[in-house]
Amino acid sequence: MENQDKPYKRRVRYKGKYPKAYKEKYKELNPDKYGDTVAHVIDKGSTPAGMHIPIMVKEIIDFLKIVPGQTGLDATLGYGGHTLEMLKCLEKKGHLYALDIDPIELPKTKARLEKEGFGEEILTTELINFSDIDMVLEETEQFNFVLADLGVSSMQIDNPERGFSFKNDGPLDLRMNPEIGIPASTRLRRLSQIELEGMLTENADEPYAEIISKAIIAAKENGIYIDTTVKLQTVISDALQFIHVNSRERDIKKSCQRSFQALRIDVNRELESIYNFLEKLPFALASGGRVAILSFHSGEDRLVKKSFKRYLREGIYKEISSEIIRPTDEECRINNRAKSTKMRWAIKA
Ligand SMILES: C[S@@+](CC[C@H](N)C(=O)[O-])C[C@H]1O[C@@H](n2cnc3c(N)ncnc32)[C@H](O)[C@@H]1O
Repeated sequence: MENQDKPYKRRVRYKGKYPKAYKEKYKELNPDKYGDTVAHVIDKGSTPAGMHIPIMVKEIIDFLKIVPGQTGLDATLGYGGHTLEMLKCLEKKGHLYALDIDPIELPKTKARLEKEGFGEEILTTELINFSDIDMVLEETEQFNFVLADLGVSSMQIDNPERGFSFKNDGPLDLRMNPEIGIPASTRLRRLSQIELEGMLTENADEPYAEIISKAIIAAKENGIYIDTTVKLQTVISDALQFIHVNSRERDIKKSCQRSFQALRIDVNRELESIYNFLEKLPFALASGGRVAILSFHSGEDRLVKKSFKRYLREGIYKEISSEIIRPTDEECRINNRAKSTKMRWAIKA
């Protein structure tokens, strides 16, 4: 009867119509149980907590021309939205390999796909960086189709404990694999002003790179340890108060977004991984093999474009997309996160 003395603790519930805190979104985090809520959030053009809406699915599937019996690779499994569509095309014949570096989300996605009827007989998921694509080739033949949907997933961005966004306070971490490397807070402490400025410029074209980098160094010299997302946002915001009031709020938000992006790219060594992946990619593709890549900022797209053009010149690719392919206006309307997407493709000779 001990329990009778314990005060009754209410489950955390939605506060009002749209909860703000990630953990309170328990309905969105349970799509099996609360399908209606999830559908309603998607209808509003938002991504439900704990989910990722796949982008340009039709364009990708139309291009890849998957035939049952083929072997393919999804280099960026994420929530598995694209993986699922590619698996359906295989009609239970052939095999799909799917990689990710996120040890938190990968097992959840694997379990979800297994529940949908796609077990190990058709799908192999591996916690491998796509820059090590050659390691996967030790287990299988060359791929007939490859997809890479670069960047981060909505699950990573939305979870405040992972520190990808300043929308909610959380530890300034930003690692896709929190078991590898150093958190962004440590990285910030180690970089000099010049290095910080270079990082903000190169990884995000930040126009206020010099001012922001100087503010971060000044904060450090004043004994402020920037170890949370909101602390970094505050340092940036305080440094940019000189911006004209008419555009101040909007410009500061953009600078914060770009600074977080720059730091994320740096901490995860994203451009190095993409470069290595693109170098090895043609040798991982079978003759006639098709690859589609979705990128989300100019640094990524530049690397894809350069590599595709180079291998086309060398006769290793027989055809590449002549220009960037964008999602339709309708897709951008129903999925905010699609807006910055650029797709390119290549076909191996
Ligand atoms: C935009 S999401 C992919 C979403 C996925 N297409 C879907 O439909 O759910 C990008 C994913 O790629 C993973 N990722 C990023 N860099 C990676 C790398 N170098 N190697 C493997 N996975 C990576 C991230 O952890 C994230 O889960």
